[in-house]
Amino acid sequence: MIFNNSLCYTAFLRILVLIPNYLPLALTSLLSPIDTTVASTTFRYYDTSCPLAEAIVQFAVGIYHFTDPFFAAGILRMHFHDCWVRGCDASVLLVGPDSEQTAPANNNSLRGFEVIQLAKTTLEIVCPRTVSCADILAFAARDSVVISGGPYWDVPAGRFDGRVSNATDANILPSPFFNVTQLTENFASKGFNQTEMVTLSGAHTIGQAHCGTFSNRLYPTVDKTLNASLATKLKSECPQLGADPNFRQDLDIVTPLYFDNQYYKNLAEFNGLLTSDETLYTDNSTTKNTTQIFANNTLEWQAAFVAAIIKMGNLPNVTVGEIREDPLCQVVNA
Ligand code: HEM
Ligand SMILES: *[C@@H]1O[C@H](CO)[C@@H](O)[C@H](O)[C@H]1NC(C)=O
Ligand SMILES: *[C@@H]1O[C@H](CO)[C@@H](O)[C@H](O)[C@H]1NC(C)=O
Ligand SMILES: *[C@@H]1O[C@H](CO)[C@@H](O)[C@H](O)[C@H]1NC(C)=O
Ligand SMILES: *[C@@H]1O[C@H](CO)[C@@H](O)[C@H](O)[C@H]1NC(C)=O
Ligand SMILES: *[C@@H]1O[C@H](CO)[C@@H](O)[C@H](O)[C@H]1NC(C)=O
Ligand SMILES: *[C@@H]1O[C@H](CO)[C@@H](O)[C@H](O)[C@H]1NC(C)=O
Ligand SMILES: *[C@@H]1O[C@H](CO)[C@@H](O)[C@H](O)[C@H]1NC(C)=O
Ligand SMILES: *[C@@H]1O[C@H](CO)[C@@H](O)[C@H](O)[C@H]1NC(C)=O
Ligand SMILES: *[C@@H]1O[C@H](CO)[C@@H](O)[C@H](O)[C@H]1NC(C)=O
Repeated sequence: MIFNNSLCYTAFLRILVLIPNYLPLALTSLLSPIDTTVASTTFRYYDTSCPLAEAIVQFAVGIYHFTDPFFAAGILRMHFHDCWVRGCDASVLLVGPDSEQTAPANNNSLRGFEVIQLAKTTLEIVCPRTVSCADILAFAARDSVVISGGPYWDVPAGRFDGRVSNATDANILPSPFFNVTQLTENFASKGFNQTEMVTLSGAHTIGQAHCGTFSNRLYPTVDKTLNASLATKLKSECPQLGADPNFRQDLDIVTPLYFDNQYYKNLAEFNGLLTSDETLYTDNSTTKNTTQIFANNTLEWQAAFVAAIIKMGNLPNVTVGEIREDPLCQVVNA
């Protein structure tokens, strides 16, 4: 047995099952007549220009899932942080002294860059200057959800990469200390209603958060809307003094690697990790109702999530764009 734990084995099976889904599609498109129409963001955008684009991204996501299954969550979050700031233009991937990566919402907490870099490096060999970093991130976010057991959706593509990344812009990202009113306003500023806000928050069914993002609920006194057993556990692992700033806790304390509706079930037991999670249940009867509907109905949440994340993936901004050539997606074209 080459696998020393069941998680690796599960990941391996997922790759075996998933990759063939793409092969017939890629082969068919190689053989079919060339469609010369070009739209801005449309499904199967790379069918003729780079038929293997999505398969290569999926392969990178699958391979890295072996080394760290939490990369899936990191990539999904990175796509959100990309789209919320100047639209989905891979501005989050640019490096520099005042780039978005240095903003408090991103500094030391984004993860999964390796995955995007492997995909882009490969794609620059297979079809140079063709597949944008922003599209790679959008495909990889979808694949991360799928490999975590969540729904599949067709990702419209054709995004351009931006040339600007400014830490100040990233202040638009929502804070984990927000209440429902603030969360609702933040999402409204991007064209999303309150239901869509609750829907997208369900992304916290996978992944982790650093102690500093929820220690407000532990010290100086324990938040009344935090489950007492969870509070005890979190206090021992995130001490007030001498806490390791690199330490993370699961956002979904039951199934942190599975893209299911457990997040919403946790909220009803006061086991949401962040203030911005639990408040959806405790603050507002409308959002509470929505969390209960999603807790009761996986398919309804998944359908809503897919619609909302496709909409998020279409957030515009780039007026002057390019296909970034850097194999690491870190610098703009010369
Ligand atoms: C509703 C407002 C939101 C707030 C306040 C928020 C805040 C946060 C915070 C503070 C973390 C922990 C980061 C860390 O310490 O490493 C986190 C993690 C995460 N967020 Fe959100 N988020 C929100 C919405 C979203 C949305 C819309 C998505 C995606 C569609 C998303 C996906 C994720 C994922 C997957 C993680 C785990 C990342 C990892 O494990 O590396 N979040 N979020
Ligand atoms: C692009 O993003 C910047 C910074 O977030 C913002 O100031 C500007 O209004 C946006 N432009 C468009 C066309 O959305
Ligand atoms: C990012 O985090 C590092 C390490 O904690 C710190 O040295 C640096 O000052 C931070 N950058 C910003 C812009 O906050
Ligand atoms: C970043 O944005 C801020 C606020 O809009 C602006 O003052 C600053 O000059 C920008 N930085 C760069 C390097 O463009
Ligand atoms: C939400 O937070 C804002 C800013 O702190 C505050 O003004 C508002 O009263 C809060 N709303 C609720 C319903 O708690
Ligand atoms: C929010 O937006 C979704 C998707 O467009 C829509 O189905 C829903 O009716 C809207 N909800 C409210 C309360 O406006
Ligand atoms: C606290 O969480 C546990 C499961 O971890 C659950 O059994 C219990 O009912 C929760 N407490 C409350 C008050 O919901
Ligand atoms: C809950 O949110 C809805 C929609 O924003 C709002 O109309 C309502 O006043 C809020 N209710 C409470 C109790 O804050
Ligand atoms: C909960 O939401 C459903 C669907 O929007 C609605 O039919 C129901 O009346 C709501 N219940 C409460 C208590 O608000
Ligand atoms: C969810 O299911 C529970 C248990 O069946 C039920 O009590 C509750 O009313 C349901 N909530 C909603 C919003 O459908």
